[in-house]
Amino acid sequence: MNTISPTECPAWAKLSHHAESWRDVHLKDLFANDVARSIQFVAEAPGLRYDYSHQLMGAMTLRLLANLAAERGLPEWREALLAGKPINTSEKRAALHTALRAGDAAPAEVKDTLSRIGKLATELRERKKFKTIVNLGTGGSDLGPRLVADALADPKEAGVLDVRFAANVDPRDLERALEGADPASTLFIVVSKTFTTQETMANAAAAKRWGGKAFYAVTSNVEAAKSFGAAEILPMWDWVGGRFSVWSAVGFAAACAMGFENFEQFLAGGRDIDEHFANTTLEKNVPALMALAGVWNTNFLGCASHAVLPYSSALRLLPAYLQQLEMESNGKRIDRAGNVVGYATCPVVWGAEGTPSQHSFHQLLHQGTQTVPCDFIDISANEILSANARAQADALAFGSEDGQYPGNRPSSTLFLDKMNPRNLGRLLALYEHKVFVQGIIWNLNSFDQPGVELGKIMANRILSGGK
Ligand code: F6P
Repeated sequence: MNTISPTECPAWAKLSHHAESWRDVHLKDLFANDVARSIQFVAEAPGLRYDYSHQLMGAMTLRLLANLAAERGLPEWREALLAGKPINTSEKRAALHTALRAGDAAPAEVKDTLSRIGKLATELRERKKFKTIVNLGTGGSDLGPRLVADALADPKEAGVLDVRFAANVDPRDLERALEGADPASTLFIVVSKTFTTQETMANAAAAKRWGGKAFYAVTSNVEAAKSFGAAEILPMWDWVGGRFSVWSAVGFAAACAMGFENFEQFLAGGRDIDEHFANTTLEKNVPALMALAGVWNTNFLGCASHAVLPYSSALRLLPAYLQQLEMESNGKRIDRAGNVVGYATCPVVWGAEGTPSQHSFHQLLHQGTQTVPCDFIDISANEILSANARAQADALAFGSEDGQYPGNRPSSTLFLDKMNPRNLGRLLALYEHKVFVQGIIWNLNSFDQPGVELGKIMANRILSGGK
């Protein structure tokens, strides 16, 4: 498969040349001159609509970006991903997170684990032996279940089964998670693929010192979890990366918070998008379009950051989740062939929930010196939120007549009708495939994370008295 530099693809040079012709184009003129723009630059996937009419691009841009994707071998790579080929070449593994939500087509070990998750989560919710569940994990072993639980926890369960999270090695984080909890009615879920991560192991030990007696584990290191004394051990597999693992037993705390039927709906949402990604032509393929818009902004319009603005309090943790997903996957400068890249890769991803973000950093989005492309997530069930999201996208694009607002700032909007488990599954799977497509364009292995190791080694050296 293609591992040459993207800059050597014919479409790259054409895109660079094409970008020159966009220097003096303004989004307000694009809309004024083309009444069809707002229907032309829209694509649909199950349960959602992706509107990228506010991106600074035209039909030719899209054609060239599609050519670039084809020249990068996207269809072959996509097939390899979905077939479970070892595309995580540095770790010689598949990246088969899609198998976790494949329903009837899932491998037997996935189905078995799902039925254990269902049985255990349902027991915990019905028997009420525990009042508090504390998820101890970090990175992918924390951000996914934390987001899903925060977005979808059943409000009827509040005060009955409280699901909480601690990720930081700072003891204050666990103390906060344990406020008001009683050791006799608290279950800890220690989630760590390796079962060696310093923060998680420190928090698990602290939980025991606090008097915790009930521990489950989610890990691929079964021996370590047994010697720790976990009463139940749910598996993680090496073919699932931490930041892609919320669909596995890593999502157990979320399944407890929202109920197993809802967790199954969440998985079904991921599956909807896998089918869309696998079977839709590139020009209508939402995750591919999201990726291509990002490549255009990053590599040809020179934007160095990307803001994610969910207009939904349920999605307030989405930016933090996407920071790991996007930046740990594609925040890299060494390509698949082992060379230092000569082009930009993942932008800085950041953001916060709207509308509070409007009263904070939107000043910079509208009038700052940098152009920050934005993703708005618009849940149309809430009229006020939706009106604000649409107003922001338009204000960024069109600016004001008096010149106070320059406009011409690109964004895309994902419209979902409501926030529910299935739509959340759809949303997260969209971004996973976006990340995959960008990794293919940028010639990166999106599934390893070598850049996190040096700091761990140095911290251990300092702790053991070295310098
Ligand atoms: O240090 C980075 C990382 O390996 C992430 O990729 C991962 O999600 C996180 O640490 C937690 O790892 P583990 O599940 O092994 O504790």
